[in-house]
Amino acid sequence: MTAFPEERIPSRGGLSGPALFHDQAFVDRPLTMRGVTEADLPELVRVDREAFPQEPYPYFVLRQLFDLHGDRLLVLDDGEHLHGYVLFVTTSDGYRSWIVSLGVTRDQRGRGLGRRLMLEVLRRLRAEGVREARLTVEPTNAAAIALYRSLGFSSDEGVRKDYFGVDEDRLIMTLGL
Ligand SMILES: CC(C)(COP(=O)(O)OP(=O)(O)OC[C@H]1O[C@@H](n2cnc3c(N)ncnc32)[C@H](O)[C@@H]1OP(=O)(O)O)[C@@H](O)C(=O)NCCC(=O)NCCS
Repeated sequence: MTAFPEERIPSRGGLSGPALFHDQAFVDRPLTMRGVTEADLPELVRVDREAFPQEPYPYFVLRQLFDLHGDRLLVLDDGEHLHGYVLFVTTSDGYRSWIVSLGVTRDQRGRGLGRRLMLEVLRRLRAEGVREARLTVEPTNAAAIALYRSLGFSSDEGVRKDYFGVDEDRLIMTLGL
């Protein structure tokens, strides 16, 4: 398993004014971006449920994604709790990587963490020689779409109807690396 370099992210005091977040419960501790461990699973499940309340992964799915792709899963850790994660998986021919999931807890959104997770993934994929990054996003998810566009992703393929089943349309976004 290839270790991720750990990245320390200062507490939000150094990044944004606390007034922006005064009405939200938040943890004001520095975050570390690091590779996931088995001990993280319960926290990972909690973060996923918070990020995707309508369609969280069942525990067993996240467990098996960890078993299969644990070295492709980055988390944001404040030392006690996780606050975000990203999972990316590369096809067996090494050509394309899918960003399978990206989530940041509500109390930590809007401070650049989603972007940091994505930038680390893209850095890693480029270093590995992967040629294309690809992801799906709900067509109404303006925040995520804005993030992906700002990173250079485009949606030439447009919306695929029923991509994840009936009435589960998804926008397909791609980025040449
Ligand atoms: C999408 C998500 C991961 C973004 O994480 P985040 O840490 O809040 O995002 P960042 O602070 O890094 O913002 C990066 C960019 O995203 C866009 N963005 C973030 N929040 C936004 C919002 N509420 N409205 C519009 N654009 C937004 C902006 O382009 C922003 O860049 P800017 O700050 O320079 O304007 C987070 O909102 C989330 O977890 N949402 C629920 C789960 C989800 O939808 N995941 C994506 C599934 S495809």
